[in-house]
Amino acid sequence: VNRVTEQIIQRYGDIIPDLTQFRQTMQRPLAKTGWVNPLKAELTVVRDLLTPSVSLLPGKVWSSAYRYEGDVETAQTPVKLGYWHWQEEVSMLPPLLLDPQPGERVLDLCAAPGNKTAQCAVLMRNQGTLVANDINYHRIKALGKNLKRLGVVNTCLTQYHGLRLPQASDFFDKVMVDAPCSCEGTARKNRHIQVNPQLSRQKAQLQVQLLSKALTLCKPGGQVIYSTCTFAPEENEGVIQTMLDKFAGEVQLLPLPSISLVTTPGLAQWDGQHFDRQLARCMRIWPGENDTGGFFIALLSKQSSGAQTAPVEAVSLPAVDSSELRAALSTMAASSLDFKSYRFVQSPQGHDIYLSAASQTLPCGLQLDAVGLRCYKQNSGNIATDVCHLLPVREPYVILTSAQVRDYVNRLAVCLDNEQVRLTTYDRRLVLVTHAGKGLGLGLLDREGEAYRLMSLFPKK
Ligand SMILES: C[S@@+](CC[C@H](N)C(=O)[O-])C[C@H]1O[C@@H](n2cnc3c(N)ncnc32)[C@H](O)[C@@H]1O
Repeated sequence: VNRVTEQIIQRYGDIIPDLTQFRQTMQRPLAKTGWVNPLKAELTVVRDLLTPSVSLLPGKVWSSAYRYEGDVETAQTPVKLGYWHWQEEVSMLPPLLLDPQPGERVLDLCAAPGNKTAQCAVLMRNQGTLVANDINYHRIKALGKNLKRLGVVNTCLTQYHGLRLPQASDFFDKVMVDAPCSCEGTARKNRHIQVNPQLSRQKAQLQVQLLSKALTLCKPGGQVIYSTCTFAPEENEGVIQTMLDKFAGEVQLLPLPSISLVTTPGLAQWDGQHFDRQLARCMRIWPGENDTGGFFIALLSKQSSGAQTAPVEAVSLPAVDSSELRAALSTMAASSLDFKSYRFVQSPQGHDIYLSAASQTLPCGLQLDAVGLRCYKQNSGNIATDVCHLLPVREPYVILTSAQVRDYVNRLAVCLDNEQVRLTTYDRRLVLVTHAGKGLGLGLLDREGEAYRLMSLFPKK
């Protein structure tokens, strides 16, 4: 048994449900899990893009989730297309339990690299308002790339210390606090984890502050979900107890629905501290019982105080309607897109035009890092690949086989038969590249005698 497992057993031996099972599980590698992205693809298409030796077995917590058995290299094509997203199974739980709805206003306070933000977007069917915030610039960049790859349009990215987000009291219907923590529950994949009570006490201070801020931003009657991937009671039950004391009468701990994993209730006591009986409503997930990582979840509801507060001003991003954009849209037959549920907006940084959810409204004064999906690139005058999955499949377009899709996403030239090409004229031209009835991106088509050659314009990264 490795060093970190021994440290965990030493500190938490009395509260681990089955020590023998725990020890054995911690020595095994973590199962490979992920989800098929309903915003872009179906299971059958993902299966076709993988080699036949790969099995996708239904996951336990979500209908889109699967356990992946086989060579992970072959998942590269569906990953690059945003059809498949790797994520640890327990980490999928907070959005599922928060259950954000299309049209709601949702804040993900500690969002990067965006696994749970993306799940929220899926559950919200890419509508409503999803603000994804993180303090860390590099992690925000990774978050932006993930959301772009997965085809998420209803999100705005912000980079704030969570405590410094503009005071928009009572604005959000739901807030997620997937807190920075000591990460002890990830020890199966990260052997550098330390069990350090001093560190846990430090983390707990920030966690209490972030959760307090989340409650302020949430509207009365709204919900805040708190999660960590650590076993440390200081960062889990200890934090929730502090919130119940601090917001007595204003905050309630909600019972969580039962799920298809073995869970244990929040602790009644730790290290001499007795917790409120409500704390049993929290959820602990131990690796041994489920062959997963470790996790802790609590769902809080903010009570209506009855007092009238002035509503926070909600603003929509100003829509743009440029002639260039309209011309570019018509080159790809995209002008006939049903854009009722989308809005074209100017990028916060540059001149490119982005597609965002029409129903998106933001609290006044929020400084945005990025918005929605890039739709139009001003410098090339073209539609951006990011929105190709939303375009109707109309001429000019080409149809690729599964094997050709792999070459296309790897930016290799693809030779096509006549039947794969849908053109009215034979000019060298920009085409929509499709597979299984969906746009994948763009390509340049050249005729070579009786055959065609497609140059891939799939983005380099
Ligand atoms: C557990 S990770 C979040 C994982 C993410 N929710 C996901 O599912 O992909 C915690 C995140 O909190 C961020 N963070 C740390 N301190 C913060 C703060 N003061 N305000 C906002 N975010 C913070 C970290 O940069 C880190 O990305």
